[in-house]
Amino acid sequence: MDINKELAYKASDVDGMIYKYLPAEKGYQKTVLQAMNYSILAGGKRIRPILMTETFKLFGGASEILAPFVAAIEMIHTYSLVHDDLPAMDDDELRRGKPTTHAKFGEAMGILAGDGLLNYAFETALSALDIEPGNPRVAKALQVLANKSGVYGMIGGQVVDVESEKQYGISKNRLDFIYELKTGALIEASMMIGAILGGASSEEVDKIEQVAKKIGLAFQIQDDVLDVIGDKETLGKNVGSDEKNQKPTYVIFEGLEKSKQEVKTLTEEAITILQGLPYENPFLTELLRWMVLRDK
Ligand code: IPE
Ligand code: IPE
Ligand code: MG
Ligand code: MG
Ligand code: MG
Repeated sequence: MDINKELAYKASDVDGMIYKYLPAEKGYQKTVLQAMNYSILAGGKRIRPILMTETFKLFGGASEILAPFVAAIEMIHTYSLVHDDLPAMDDDELRRGKPTTHAKFGEAMGILAGDGLLNYAFETALSALDIEPGNPRVAKALQVLANKSGVYGMIGGQVVDVESEKQYGISKNRLDFIYELKTGALIEASMMIGAILGGASSEEVDKIEQVAKKIGLAFQIQDDVLDVIGDKETLGKNVGSDEKNQKPTYVIFEGLEKSKQEVKTLTEEAITILQGLPYENPFLTELLRWMVLRDK
């Protein structure tokens, strides 16, 4: 299997689901709708939607119920990037190979497009209630989406991330807290929602949460590694952002080589937990391994 080809195919597949839910660019508030669509259509690897659909398949899921959640998770992730790039946060000008949303539409519209995407994500996910009104798994999936995106999830991690700038002396526990929340939480949401809607039991959803927690941590450590040794063209974002903002990162704590090793170890631990489940999705395992070796 050529994983890169397979991934491109899966990304275009999830794009089909995402595009269906994008808002029409019309009305007096057209500018914000253009900015929202600009940030989503700029591209991105679509890792979270793919993790969601592949975990859904792992549990034998096959209904139409997943699509609104696939679109919603990418909207929330994209909003987190739009806000992460704002001058008050990481102050970055390049994202997904294009000018960041605030660089293109101005700061106010960057803030509002992020807000718009977050809210629209829930409007979209809630439309699953129209597809299968009596399905109790939809409510559970909505709970996970809300919790993992909020102050006990991604937002909480971003708060501690910005408060830790220039604080190279923070504890390893605090660093892990930042990573597990700012990045881990949405990866957990992606896989857990796939599992819940795919029909997993609550014990199985807990297992998937453990897998995703390790994968999320590994994903962010790799992001930090790439911020040091990556290539701007391939990444579609500027390198050296963490150094510019004096962020304490795994690379600062452990050095490059140990960080790379940690990414591999966490991934193998995650795969071991995943393989403890009585179901198989070889592509999902391949994808987790690809995430370690990725250069973008
Ligand atoms: C970037 O996420 C931000 C992190 C949480 C590390 P991705 O690397 O998934 O970004 P896109 O979606 O491919 O642009
Ligand atoms: C991003 O961490 C986490 C979120 C956007 C929630 P980074 O700030 O390291 O992500 P990049 O490197 O800008 O993509
Ligand atoms: Mg950041
Ligand atoms: Mg950033
Ligand atoms: Mg980064």
